[in-house]
Amino acid sequence: MDHLQINRSAWNRLADSGSQFAQTATDSECREPLKTLDSRGWIPGSVAGLNVLCLAGGGGWQSVLYATAGANVTVVDVSESMLRLDQQECRRRGLSVQTVQTSMEDLSMLAEDFFDIVHQPVSTCYVPSLIPVYREIARVLRDDGIYISQHKQPISLQISHRNERDQFVVGLEYFHGGPLPQFADRHYREDGTTEYMHRLEQLLGELCRAGFLIEDFSEPRRADPKADVTHFGYRGRFIPPYLRIKARRRTRQDGERQGNLNSSGIWIPGADR
Ligand SMILES: C[S@@+](CC[C@H](N)C(=O)[O-])C[C@H]1O[C@@H](n2cnc3c(N)ncnc32)[C@H](O)[C@@H]1O
Repeated sequence: MDHLQINRSAWNRLADSGSQFAQTATDSECREPLKTLDSRGWIPGSVAGLNVLCLAGGGGWQSVLYATAGANVTVVDVSESMLRLDQQECRRRGLSVQTVQTSMEDLSMLAEDFFDIVHQPVSTCYVPSLIPVYREIARVLRDDGIYISQHKQPISLQISHRNERDQFVVGLEYFHGGPLPQFADRHYREDGTTEYMHRLEQLLGELCRAGFLIEDFSEPRRADPKADVTHFGYRGRFIPPYLRIKARRRTRQDGERQGNLNSSGIWIPGADR
């Protein structure tokens, strides 16, 4: 089985069993939907009428919040059970949403130059390469469109286990290629999935080479000074689990000037290196 089939089945199971990662937005979260989605002010003050793509964002959280705020929402996800939660929850709330079952690596059914915002929760760990993902996002985003994404930090995926003093051991080489091995440390790993580690030069460098400008960057804090040693909040004191990026798609004109657009107006990553 390839990574798509494995991750699709795993996420179907997670959604069907009510995983914490498959929770729809609550009424209280919907009272201030944009604040709930983003406390950093990365999303424009109003998204009413904007075309928003929740990429690998099934589960009825992002979609419900953006639709409540008046956006025209499309959700792409590989898992039909995750997408069912978007459909059910949006219907229940009288909101509309379009769902598309595909991999983030192939968005060919979506129009070019269409979305104002692409919002991607943690999910790039489920594909072996970021290059097709970033290329597809650059294609479907309009000029100056915003791409907000969250990813697993490479260091978090390198932790294999703890030693006898409960210290975290970096057991995976930074230049590891291919699927991640099974480790004793299961924090921030979802059961039954196949995951890949992306290095910082890939997460950030490939993004720039795909035609984006990075406007902001943050590391969500999961440290809890009072947490028990077994708790993820303790782990978070030493290892940041996630990184979050705000990027803007450079204009097609900008790309043309630098000679790195192909004949269909698509960025050729790396052409201006
Ligand atoms: C952490 S969940 C994100 C959704 C959730 N709403 C959230 O905010 O946490 C990761 C999602 O990525 C999806 N996924 C995994 N591999 C994918 C792929 N190749 N293409 C599209 N979606 C994928 C999963 O089905 C899952 O819905």
